[in-house]
Amino acid sequence: MSRLLVCPPDFFGIEYEINPWMHLNNRVNHERAVQQWHDLVSVFEKDLHIALERIVPLPGLPDLVFTANAGVVVGQTAVVSHFRHPERQQEEAHFENWFRSHGYDVMTLKPGLFFEGAGDLLGFTDLLFGGHGQRSDLGVYPILSKQFNREIIPLELIDSRFYHLDTCLCPLSGGELLYFPAAFDREGQEVLAARISVTHRLIVPEHEALKFSCNAVCIGKHVVLPAGCPTTEGLLQERGYETHAVQLDEFMKSGGSAKCLTLALD
Ligand code: ARG
Repeated sequence: MSRLLVCPPDFFGIEYEINPWMHLNNRVNHERAVQQWHDLVSVFEKDLHIALERIVPLPGLPDLVFTANAGVVVGQTAVVSHFRHPERQQEEAHFENWFRSHGYDVMTLKPGLFFEGAGDLLGFTDLLFGGHGQRSDLGVYPILSKQFNREIIPLELIDSRFYHLDTCLCPLSGGELLYFPAAFDREGQEVLAARISVTHRLIVPEHEALKFSCNAVCIGKHVVLPAGCPTTEGLLQERGYETHAVQLDEFMKSGGSAKCLTLALD
């Protein structure tokens, strides 16, 4: 992964409530949010030498900063999201235009099927996981599995605080899986235990899961994650990962953190 899509937080704020983290009366401190976003971007650009693409922010689309939900990119194909909540559906055309103008083959899903992009679909090179039950529909995964010729294991999300898969699961470059099991139903927990060897399962404690410690970006041996998760950092460091913690609490007011603020482009 060498290129990420991000969106400056010019119009970020809490203007509606579509997940349990969002409260209209818990206003975003704009200056702090801008500072935190720049700190995150600086870790990617200056420390990790990652190329960032910036999509133009638009007024009235406060969640556009969460580019993980733009869609999912596999090779030259971009599958554009179709958001469950009308509040975010206006983002779809803007993301689609960006993909088209940057040379991607754009694929859209048939109307009525909800899919929230890389927020709900992530994994390893040959094995992907698809979150459903909160935002994305289970029915999208057989279609995407066929399209990309990859196995996709559906995982049902049963806790509304962990409404996107990337809020509670993070595949690492060495084949390990960082996750919070209680966010999944029993079948999901069993399938993860069956597919990932016990030495490769990094289980985060609940109090750090609630700080979105799994909402992390793994690039090679580096992991960028929200600040305030020392146990998770320890688990990662034991496996040889270098951790980069960034304070992103202004974005937590919207139910998002490091991973949500980026989209892997290759
Ligand atoms: N407020 C946004 C929403 O509820 C946050 C999205 C976070 N994105 C993510 N990939 N988890 O849709």
